[in-house]
Amino acid sequence: MAKPIEALLDERRRYRPPEEFVARANVRDPDVYRQADEDFEGFWSRFAGELDWFRKWDRVLEWNPPDARWFIGGKLNASVNCVDRHLATPRKNKAAIIWEGEPGDTRVLTYQELSREVNRFANVLRSLGVKKGDRVTIYLPMIPELPISMLACARIGAPHSVVFGGFSPTALASRIEDSGSRILITCDGYYRRGELIPQKARADEAAQKSGGIEKVIVVRRAGNDVPMQPGRDLWWHELMEGARGVAAPEEMDAEDMLFMMYTSGTTGKPKGVVHTTGGYLVGVYATTKWVFDLHEEDTYWCSADIGWITGHSYIVYGPLSNGATTVMYEGSPDWPDKDRLWQMVERYRVNIFYTAPTAIRQFMQWGEQYPARHDLSSLRLLGSVGEPINPEAWVWYHRVIGGGRCPIVDTWWQTETGMIMITPLPGITETKPGSATRPFPGVRAAVLDENGQPVPPGGGGYLALLRPWPAMLRTIWGDHDRYVAQYWSRWNRETYYPGDGAKWDEDGYFWVLGRVDDVMNVAGHRLSTMEIESALVEHPAVAEAAVIGALHPIKGQVPVAFVILKSGHAGSPALEQELKQKVAEVISPIARPDRVVFTPDLPKTRSGKIMRRLLRDIAEGKELGDVTTLRNPEVAEELRMAFTSHA
Ligand code: WTA
Repeated sequence: MAKPIEALLDERRRYRPPEEFVARANVRDPDVYRQADEDFEGFWSRFAGELDWFRKWDRVLEWNPPDARWFIGGKLNASVNCVDRHLATPRKNKAAIIWEGEPGDTRVLTYQELSREVNRFANVLRSLGVKKGDRVTIYLPMIPELPISMLACARIGAPHSVVFGGFSPTALASRIEDSGSRILITCDGYYRRGELIPQKARADEAAQKSGGIEKVIVVRRAGNDVPMQPGRDLWWHELMEGARGVAAPEEMDAEDMLFMMYTSGTTGKPKGVVHTTGGYLVGVYATTKWVFDLHEEDTYWCSADIGWITGHSYIVYGPLSNGATTVMYEGSPDWPDKDRLWQMVERYRVNIFYTAPTAIRQFMQWGEQYPARHDLSSLRLLGSVGEPINPEAWVWYHRVIGGGRCPIVDTWWQTETGMIMITPLPGITETKPGSATRPFPGVRAAVLDENGQPVPPGGGGYLALLRPWPAMLRTIWGDHDRYVAQYWSRWNRETYYPGDGAKWDEDGYFWVLGRVDDVMNVAGHRLSTMEIESALVEHPAVAEAAVIGALHPIKGQVPVAFVILKSGHAGSPALEQELKQKVAEVISPIARPDRVVFTPDLPKTRSGKIMRRLLRDIAEGKELGDVTTLRNPEVAEELRMAFTSHA
């Protein structure tokens, strides 16, 4: 079980990079930190210079806080850098993507084959009238057509908006609407724990709800029967049949949008985080190369879903711009058995493996016998991302998966940062279980108090970023005010506020503790409490709802809902099920509350604000402390009783 956060700084274990690792590491000189700090523009421009540009930039950075422009005047294309750049080298016939479907079918695409598919699909999109600047929504599971679609969009300058395949039709519809997409790319169905998921039916529902969709392109994945709407729906394979394998890439300005990615904020409405072509690509290229210590012969596997930022940056754009071999898996880690991932590590001789703490805690719970069935000796580096990793899970990962010989990079970053920001460099950094260690070279971070003053070593406060970085978001789609207010207004216009609490220690190591706002992190997925509350109050029986994230041993946090019913309705196990189902339908099964507690009232302050801290304490079975500031202190005790009697 996770140690309480306060105990983190008592963590005294230290792990030096092993000698054999250091001997071969790409980055060994600790002086890179000083050099990058002194000339961070020069630092980033050296990485930029390793990429292909149609036209070189005139200036590295223009910083009018909080608006940054990177590589001004530069022209490039992301698909050229992820694909074409490698074709004139020995990488031409190297595996770019090794894909495995859940049923066990496989597909390997060399860089040359990937190039052909991307170019053909770029021509398909152009033939449907998609132009530079048009947004394209992609609603696909983890199949090769997903990165192919993304790169084809990049090729013609059409920003993609990938919506996680597990999101509900309602969630998809609101993202289609907000982005103004006319094209939707989806598939007939796919597999999850052996079950067929009817993706096309869900896409149809979303297209109908949102309006605006003119063409739906359907990949045949599962072969299930799907109705095709004449004039609107088109089969991917039919479109591709006649498409030529050469499509001229659009010359994109460095600051042109590459993609948008919706993420949960503190309000009910998800926000479209906008990333650009030049800065984003340089940021993910550099961090993939250094953080994962990529070598030419490596097989690299990030087990995230491409529907989240981790997959965009560290399955698609980072690895492919580096010419790496990246593994993709369609299905569930426990299918057909709980050793599936380890079986794949052995099968492909994976060298670098990147996953989330929630997965690691799940593997711990399943037991060591599953990894023990396989030869994991190919692994040389392990990564973690998405939430704080508790030291016990870190140490287990190191010992059981890494055989005690693999450095672990615990990488802190966000959808908004686009790239890894705080992380060890595996050939340099001595690691401490539970700490993401230090900012990547060229990045400046601090732990600040309410007033924007750095807290003393050992102290806790708010994580802050003190300098622009190339992959930073440029705006929230259609809402620049929200960009300014949300990220650059806590202290001043030059200091970025990520919304995380953190501590730092005497060595300047960062310990990220988790969100300090109304965003929760459920099994590595970001959800807003407001989003779930709005879903609940859509149910006719619900008058008011308050949702909090309660600690959970495997998922990190789970949503717990406190619900006031309208008069004439009574709480029951059946209604609890119905409400959970409602949330799954409106958002996604990920957001389904772990518990729904019916209550006649919610604890409120005198100004009428729901006291969430108290709800969290109740859900976590903690002492309630002082409730005298409440307008209705008796509610606290009633709720506690209701909660425990029902548990
Ligand atoms: C959390 C995922 C602690 C954090 C890349 C952040 C982490 C949010 C770590 C962003 C880490 C991510 N240690 N916490 N190594 N990595 N987080 O946008 O709360 O899905 O604000 O991006 O995840 O989640 P997002």
